Amino acid sequence: KGGLASSIAMGETAPMENDIEKILIDQEVILRRLDRIAERIEEEYASGDELVVVALLNGAFMFMADLLRRLKSPLSIECLRVSSYHGGTESSGTVNFMDKSLPEVAGRKVLLLDDILDSGRTLKAVSDRLMEEGASEIRSCVLLEKDRPREVAVEADYSCFTIGDEFVVGYGLDYMERYRNLPYVAVLKEECILPEHR
Ligand code: IMP
Ligand code: MG
Repeated sequence: KGGLASSIAMGETAPMENDIEKILIDQEVILRRLDRIAERIEEEYASGDELVVVALLNGAFMFMADLLRRLKSPLSIECLRVSSYHGGTESSGTVNFMDKSLPEVAGRKVLLLDDILDSGRTLKAVSDRLMEEGASEIRSCVLLEKDRPREVAVEADYSCFTIGDEFVVGYGLDYMERYRNLPYVAVLKEECILPEHR
């Protein structure tokens, strides 16, 4: 009865809301916050150089769409697939680049977007690689940052919300590739997390 393992096994398609313990940040609050962050980004980039936005997939897809439609300056968009979780609820400790090539950022100002800053390894690894590729500047913008010590020295230049050190899903964030399409950020019921990930 119940639980993710059995629901996947049975191909269950019950609404995802059934799996939510609590909504942490609802959609309206997210979008109002993005209005403010977009204004700040516009002000602070008012220098004329065209920006290249690099979004980390899959997690940043919804954040990217909602944030970028609020920016008025011309920019280009690149996506980069990286993975660090391998399905669980804790970072694996290594960051894998899944694409054959990196975006062309030589001599350009980069705004890096990610869903969440947790250990910091992902943002650090990607910024380092893009610096090696010759980016002239890299700033980062995350939807969420976890209030915990980072394992590597990195902070986001723009951060929309600080949350506790807990596992969250929705608005791009997944558990085993599920829940990314929830329009809010939420905590899952414990029974929806496999015992080995609790
Ligand atoms: P970091 O490298 O430890 O900072 O982790 C960043 C990546 O781990 C993010 O891009 C997310 O994909 C994933 N991640 C970290 N915390 C969570 C979470 O609470 N829920 C879902 N994914 C998370
Ligand atoms: Mg993930």
